[in-house]
Amino acid sequence: MDLRNGLFLVLCLQFYVSNVCCLHRSQFKSSFLFGTATSSYQIEGAYLEGNKGLSNWDVFTHIQGKIMDGSNGDIADDHYHLYMEDIELMVKLGINSYRFSISWSRILPKGRFGDVNLEGIAFYNRVINAILAKGIEPFVTINHLEIPQELQDRYGAWLSSEIRNDFGYFAEVCFKAFGDRVKYWTTFNEPNLRTKASYMTGTDPPCRCSSPFGNCTYGNSSVEPYTAAHNIILSHATAVHIYRTSYQVKQGGTIGIVIHAKWYEPLRNTIADTLAVKRALAFDQHWFLDPILFGDYPSEMRQILGPNLPTFTSEEKNLLKAKLDFIGINQYTTTYAKDCIYSSCPIDLSDGNALVSTTGERNGQFIGTPTGAPNFFVVPWGIEKVVMHMKQRYNNTPMYITENGYPQASNSSMTAEDFANDIERVNFIHDYLTYLNSAIRKGADVRGYFVWSLLDNFEWGSGFTLRFGLHHVDYKTRERTPRLSTKWYSTFLKGSNIAKNVGTEFMNLEY
Ligand code: NOJ
Repeated sequence: MDLRNGLFLVLCLQFYVSNVCCLHRSQFKSSFLFGTATSSYQIEGAYLEGNKGLSNWDVFTHIQGKIMDGSNGDIADDHYHLYMEDIELMVKLGINSYRFSISWSRILPKGRFGDVNLEGIAFYNRVINAILAKGIEPFVTINHLEIPQELQDRYGAWLSSEIRNDFGYFAEVCFKAFGDRVKYWTTFNEPNLRTKASYMTGTDPPCRCSSPFGNCTYGNSSVEPYTAAHNIILSHATAVHIYRTSYQVKQGGTIGIVIHAKWYEPLRNTIADTLAVKRALAFDQHWFLDPILFGDYPSEMRQILGPNLPTFTSEEKNLLKAKLDFIGINQYTTTYAKDCIYSSCPIDLSDGNALVSTTGERNGQFIGTPTGAPNFFVVPWGIEKVVMHMKQRYNNTPMYITENGYPQASNSSMTAEDFANDIERVNFIHDYLTYLNSAIRKGADVRGYFVWSLLDNFEWGSGFTLRFGLHHVDYKTRERTPRLSTKWYSTFLKGSNIAKNVGTEFMNLEY
C-alpha cells in the first residue's frame, strides 16, 4: 500500500468513526457541558421541612383525583435528605454539570410578603458547595413550575402584573445568595408548555380554562394563557435586567430561559401544512423567544389572536430586546402538523389557537417508535431540526439542550429489575446525541446537553407512572439502582468509543 492509499484509508476510518460508527466524547468540545437534570418539586420531598412554605403543587396534589396514580411530591425521591448520596451518583456518572431548580417556597415561603428562609438558602448552599467540590458546575433554574401558594391566593399569580415584582425579588435573592458560585442561570422552565396546561387545558394548577379546551369552573382559554405568558416574559426580563445591571459583571455568569421545543413536520406535502408548521412553531416557541430576543410577538399570533394577545409598551419593548445570553432547549419528540384553516380537522387543543391538528401518524405509520408516554415518539432527527431552526431564527444564539430523555411506563407492582435493562433509553440518548452532533458540525452553537433525569421522579400529573431516570428509584425504600443507561452514559462520558445496541454485558460493568 503506498502512502496515498494509506492516508486515504485513515481518512475513511476517521470519517466512519465520527459519522457512522460510534459516538465519542471527543466529538464534542472538552468545554461542552454534559449533565443530568432534575427539578425541586419532582425530587426533593420534605415539603413541610426546613421552614418551607406551601407551593401551588403541594396544594394541588393533595386534591383528590388530580394526579393519575393519586400520588404527590411530599417525599418524592427524598433528595432533601439524600442529596449527598445523589451527588455520589453524579460523580460516578462522570458528569461535569448538574441542572436543578430552586424551590421558591423553600426560599420565600410567602413570596416578597415574608422573610427569606435561611434554612432554604442553607440547603441549596450545601448542594452547590458539594457539587462544586466534585468539579460539577451548577446549572440553576430559578423557577420550575411551582410557586408559593401565597402568591396564588393573594393576587392570582401569573394573571397579575404584581408577579413581576415577586419574581424579580426572588431572582435577586438567588443571585445574591448563590451567584458567586453559580455561572449558569435560567429564569423559567418550559413556560410555553406550562401556561397552556395551567390556563388553556386547565390540567395544571390553578386549573383555569374554558370550553372546548377543557372543563374548568373558571377561566378563559382564549385570553388567560396569553396574559399569563405576558407576565412571565416581563418577569423574565425583570430578572435579567437585575442580573445584568447589578450582578453579572461581578459574578461573571450567564442567564437564559428554557423552552419546550417539540419539532413539527408538515403532515402533507402542501403549502397549507408548511404554513401550519410555521404557525405551530409561532404559537409554541416563538411566542416566548421572539419578544425576549426581538421585542414583540410573532406576526402569526397577532393575526389570529388580535386583541386577545397583550401588547408591549415601548418601554417594555426596550427592556425586552436581547434579554438572554443563551436559549435552553428541552427536546423530546416530533409530531406532524396539519392545517385546520383550509381543511376541516379537529384542532389540537393543546396547541390552542394555532389552528393546527397534530398527530404522530401518517398513512398508518408512526413518525417514530412510541414510548411509555402518550404522543411521545422517538424521533432523533427532530433534535437537529429544532437546533438548526433556532440557529437560523435567532442568529445562532448559544444553546444548551437542557433536557432530553426517555420515559418508561410504570406501575406500583413492577420492580427495579423490570426497568434495569433500558436499552431503549440507551439507543435514544445515543441517537439524539448523534443528530445533535450533526447540528454542531453544521455550525450550531450548542454548548451543553442534560439527560432528563438523574433519577426517576414525580412526573407532575402522571405521578409515578412514568420513569425517566438513569437511576431507578424504589418509592417504598428510596433506594437508587443504576440502569444499563447509567453505565452507558458513564462509559461515553469517560471517553470510550461507544456504539448503541450494547449487549447486557454493560449491566455487569463496574463503572
Ligand atoms: C419537561 C419538564 O421540565 C420536566 O419537569 C418533566 O418531568 C420532563 N420534561 C419529562 O416530561
